[in-house]
Amino acid sequence: MRRYLFAGAAMLGLLALAPPIAAQRRPGYTTGAHNISLPADWQARFIRYATVDKADRKIIRHLFVNPEAFAAATPGAPLPHGTLIIMADARARVDATGTPLRDQQGRFIAEPGWIAIAAQEKQPGWGEGYPPEMRNGEWEYAAFTGTGERRNIALGSCFNCHITARSGQDFAFNFWDYVQAR
Ligand code: HEC
Repeated sequence: MRRYLFAGAAMLGLLALAPPIAAQRRPGYTTGAHNISLPADWQARFIRYATVDKADRKIIRHLFVNPEAFAAATPGAPLPHGTLIIMADARARVDATGTPLRDQQGRFIAEPGWIAIAAQEKQPGWGEGYPPEMRNGEWEYAAFTGTGERRNIALGSCFNCHITARSGQDFAFNFWDYVQAR
């Protein structure tokens, strides 16, 4: 009887220890940008939650997130699993001297099309396999050309800057701030 009790307790203990996240992890996960794909319909479906004029680079950053994460994100809580943030840069229209033109609200005016796209996505169990000084929670990063082709560039700087500046905000910048403020 005592032995059964012990076995039962041990099993309960194991269940309690088993992280539920591991059970949801996509099978065959390996670290890297290949995990992130731009959904074919992202421009029609994703929500643009912020737009930032970058005077130093004469670009306009358009920040998009998938509607599921937009709805589920809660102030003060980590961003939801399944969050995919897409940052698409457009060139700012400039005058003859190279100075960005501004609209009536004082904002830059975007030239059509994107010149670069960056993405970060969070899924259960992602990030496992990165060294602790690099790991950004459960986030992966990826870089694409303006037309959406994958750029096979080193992404160490993405991890490094986001972990340094934003480890306390679930490694996100504007989307975290947006969720806190709404
Ligand atoms: C030197 C710091 C730095 C580096 C390097 C960096 N980022 Fe960021 N990232 C930022 C900042 C700051 C923002 C907020 C947007 C802005 O103001 O430009 C941002 C925003 C983002 C966003 C939008 C998420 C949000 O919540 O604002 C994504 C996606 C992103 N970065 C992906 C990447 C990827 C991919 C790389 C590497 C190719 C990268 N970043 C490299 C600083 C950095």
